[in-house]
Amino acid sequence: MKQLDGKSLDIVSQNIEKIKELFPEVFSEGKINFAKLQEELGTFAEDEAERYNFTWSGKSEAKRIAQTPSTGTLRPCKEESKDWDTTQNLYIEGDNLEVLKLLQKSYHKQVKMIYIDPPYNTGKDFVYKDNFKDNIKNYLEITGQVDSEGNRLSTNSDTNGRYHSDWLSMMYPRLKLARNLLKDDGVIFISIDDNEVANLRKLCDEIFGEDNFIANIVWEKKYTRANDAKWFSDNHDHILCYGKNKENIKLNQLPRNEEQLTAYKNPDNHEKGKWKATPLHAKSGTNRDSYTFSNGITWTPPVGTFRRFNNESMDRMDKNNEIWFGVNGEQIPQRKSFLSEIKDGVTPITLWKYEEVGHNHEANNDMKKLELGGIFSNPKPVRLLLQTLLLSTKNNTNDLILDFFSGSATTAHAVMKLNSEDGGNRKFIMVQLPEPTDNKEFPTICEIGKERIRRAGEKIIGSEVLTSPKNDGLFGGTEVPPPLDIGFKVLKLDSSNIKTWDSNFENLEQNLLDSVENIKSERTPQDLLYEILLKYGLDLTLRVEEKTLHGKKVFIIGYGALIVCLDDEITLEVVEAIAKLKAEYKSEITRVVFKDSSFADAVVKTNALQVLKQFEIDEVVSI
Ligand SMILES: C[S@@+](CC[C@H](N)C(=O)[O-])C[C@H]1O[C@@H](n2cnc3c(N)ncnc32)[C@H](O)[C@@H]1O
Repeated sequence: MKQLDGKSLDIVSQNIEKIKELFPEVFSEGKINFAKLQEELGTFAEDEAERYNFTWSGKSEAKRIAQTPSTGTLRPCKEESKDWDTTQNLYIEGDNLEVLKLLQKSYHKQVKMIYIDPPYNTGKDFVYKDNFKDNIKNYLEITGQVDSEGNRLSTNSDTNGRYHSDWLSMMYPRLKLARNLLKDDGVIFISIDDNEVANLRKLCDEIFGEDNFIANIVWEKKYTRANDAKWFSDNHDHILCYGKNKENIKLNQLPRNEEQLTAYKNPDNHEKGKWKATPLHAKSGTNRDSYTFSNGITWTPPVGTFRRFNNESMDRMDKNNEIWFGVNGEQIPQRKSFLSEIKDGVTPITLWKYEEVGHNHEANNDMKKLELGGIFSNPKPVRLLLQTLLLSTKNNTNDLILDFFSGSATTAHAVMKLNSEDGGNRKFIMVQLPEPTDNKEFPTICEIGKERIRRAGEKIIGSEVLTSPKNDGLFGGTEVPPPLDIGFKVLKLDSSNIKTWDSNFENLEQNLLDSVENIKSERTPQDLLYEILLKYGLDLTLRVEEKTLHGKKVFIIGYGALIVCLDDEITLEVVEAIAKLKAEYKSEITRVVFKDSSFADAVVKTNALQVLKQFEIDEVVSI
């Protein structure tokens, strides 16, 4: 029987191979599209559904997954964090789909730049499989945090019949949610190679709008030729760049590099320093008059061109020795353009050579310099990330940068480095799955990422001079640049702290009269606090002040905008002290959150509500 099965299978696959040879275009993902085959054989079905569209098997499910709310939360982990009280950076461990869902409220339209470097789907890499029914449980299983059978990290092999579809289904909801976080003038850069670039381009056209396509950058990732390659030595990656709304976006110019600077010289020892000769004529204009310089030379714009400068400017340049007549004084006159007077940089080009932004080997060296060499495959070079940051962020606007496939955290490294160089205050959010590694010291990729940020931060502070900004002199003179933020708050994805979490937060006030212990026993007040911040859509790096009022711990967030008390046995005395904080902080709106089970009985609860109303507390919620 077995053999027979094998044979009959063989015949089928042989037939398929024959058809493939004749009609390769009717195959996709290893399957025959029979409608297409019919067309090849001259039979055209009347196809009213024929229209321009981009779809794959599982697209509707991917759309549904994007819309399903998360039942998870982010639990703070102070021990693994650095500079907990002051840092504005976040390191989030978890599946990025759930994390992006959880960040929707707090970071809606807050992010200036997103860089991602997702799995390229080479047939060897792991592609996360979402589970519509219970994605948090799925996450805990996939990352080995609870027992599971068969739900292990596995690679998406190219023999899988849904090879491209699975990858697209993974990417769709993530990009869709990421777009919501971008500011109106925000930009996204996505690294990819030829396996999926065509699909990714189509997917982004759909999600961001094809009008918001900015560029397909070619990055020269290798400096050597692979002579053993069968067809071509594959030396480049793509970086797709889209804007949230292209009309609102103005990319920065890039600083001039050494090569561009060598064009500036000072052969005549001019007091304004180095200069480069540039034409006096322009392609468009109205004035074609001749001009006679003080040395008697008369100049007329070449045929078909016009004067770039009026008489007044020409007189001034002539008087100040800013016209160049060549070494012998007889060449066509040109203007001396002084380096010291050039404010803007150069327009970026779509070809990024390794000399400018580094290559894969350099990326490994970046890790080696931190004594983290060889433990993470395929990091990106810090210089590559610096280039994306230089183009899309500024040093004086507190720009927030997000990378939700952060790997070894190159993006965080580049953010800190650029801030140290230009006095900027950019902030980062890294998201990374705790994907297991074979390394004992760093058992998950998150451990590598966090340690890299720690080491890179220390190195930047310790060995690299913190310079004043090159761009706009913001902190020049007597002003001191803000201290460099090399810290990060660690948060970890987990199931909600609340047993029966009502996803409609607004209804929770109704629960106030039910005295049920709603909170999971192993969760801390800090855990709950961050869940509340997420539900209220508050920034997760807001300063949290702690006070003790009549023996109960009270968290005050955003200078009185939100007051949280999660202790048990709350008395009216405590409630009154909390209510008085509104006046103390002079906050316009104050919301107060208690634990549902905190009050001794229903009478205390009712009275507590009365007290809070008297003090004009705007909203009271229990969890
Ligand atoms: C190509 S690497 C990124 C490398 C990074 N740019 C660097 O320079 O180190 C892709 C990363 O995405 C992570 N990843 C894959 N699926 C993920 C998911 N669902 N949530 C979060 N991270 C994920 C992988 O663990 C891997 O570390």
